Amino acid sequence: MTTSISDLFAHNRAWAAQMEAERPGFFTSLVQQQTPKYMWIGCSDSRVPANQITGLEPGEVFVHRNVANVVVHSDLNALSTIQFAVERLKVKHVMVVGHYGCSGVRAALEGARIGLADNWLRHIQDVRDRHRNLLDVIAEDQRCDALVELNVVEQIINVAQSTVLQDAWLRGQDVTLHGWVYGINDGLLKDLKMGLTGNDGIEMIYRAALADIGQRQR
Ligand code: CO
Repeated sequence: MTTSISDLFAHNRAWAAQMEAERPGFFTSLVQQQTPKYMWIGCSDSRVPANQITGLEPGEVFVHRNVANVVVHSDLNALSTIQFAVERLKVKHVMVVGHYGCSGVRAALEGARIGLADNWLRHIQDVRDRHRNLLDVIAEDQRCDALVELNVVEQIINVAQSTVLQDAWLRGQDVTLHGWVYGINDGLLKDLKMGLTGNDGIEMIYRAALADIGQRQR
């Protein structure tokens, strides 16, 4: 679809009018506060819009996106967003959502040079190198999808190990982490069954997720 900037404003006015007509007071109720139950950490890819995929409305999901959904322990942007979501908004679920066909993950897998982003993707190359043995026995045409899944698994562990989640679980706060992968080709979310509700069993769940990924076509 070809659009211009003026189209965006026209669509926006039509959407706001339609929302207000169908649900009078929708916007004014959101002015008071946001009470999302979910936080989405996903890839910036334009084909992976958090709200549309999950049918969530404005006010229902708190979103952080970056290239290839990476959560680095020293990334103040990601950590601040997670802290706000967990401590202030008290979200119940945080999901890290990768997607098949992620060009960031592919570049990391192949060691392709893109530019500045190479430094960011280095984190995914760390994931690749850590799981070299697992990736090596997976068929070449499956390897990128496997690394997409491995990246989600590792990034959830990073979220779990962050001071924000450690403190939340120490307080007894009810917040669960999830790892999902989205299929650009079919629009469907896959659950990697990484549900983490605390420190208990993390190692076991991590090992099971890796074993699952290792079952991919060889
Ligand atoms: Co991507």
